[in-house]
Amino acid sequence: MIKQIVRFKEVASTQDTARRFIEQENELAISSLRQKRGRGRHGRDWFSPSGGLYVSLLLFPKIRVNSIPLLAALAVIKMLEDHGFSQLLIQWPNDVLLDRKKVSGIICERFKNAVICGIGLNINNSRFSKKLDKATSLRIAAGETFDIDEILNHLIGKFNPLYEELQSDGIKIKEVLNYIDGIGESIEVVTSKRIFKGTVYDIDDDWALMLRDESGMIKKFYYGDVRRLRW
Ligand code: BTN
Repeated sequence: MIKQIVRFKEVASTQDTARRFIEQENELAISSLRQKRGRGRHGRDWFSPSGGLYVSLLLFPKIRVNSIPLLAALAVIKMLEDHGFSQLLIQWPNDVLLDRKKVSGIICERFKNAVICGIGLNINNSRFSKKLDKATSLRIAAGETFDIDEILNHLIGKFNPLYEELQSDGIKIKEVLNYIDGIGESIEVVTSKRIFKGTVYDIDDDWALMLRDESGMIKKFYYGDVRRLRW
């Protein structure tokens, strides 16, 4: 449960700053107004100018570690719904799409006995990482600017009860299914080793993606990137 937010003006990456707090074994959030070397998944950069939200949650989960990226995505979605946004989808495992464009990216890294869950959300910024061809921000979508600190507090307020539920094993996992993009549709799951094609079948109790391949076999994925084959 996150009870404290430590705020910075500029850091290299909140993911690295969070590591410095690990000894205290206290679950907290590290945020920064901008990052010099924001990290995305698969070694990509996360362009982090002022106007975006950059936060890393330092967590010491006892169980269901694999579910944390999806849980963070669900918290982002619930927070955005409270701000009047709809047309929100999770592109498994952890991108949040608004109007079918990426508005938030999530990276979870294990470090010693902790999980550091980094969330980037495009709020008032309108320039994005070059590799994001389809991206948007809250300002672009709503035509108004937002209070980044209020969004951060609200996000933590949504994350905490979900995380508590997850750790006490009582979460209604299937809630996330409502938001998963492409159930029943043809996709590719790209892992570091190969590309798998199939249709999205389900999300299981560990929140792994279940893919049905051409032969009808169901394969489970805990990580990878999803590409839709048809829009
Ligand atoms: C992705 O979509 O590839 C994940 C992007 C994660 C970006 C966030 S911003 C806060 C935290 N600090 C980082 O350096 N990265 C994450």
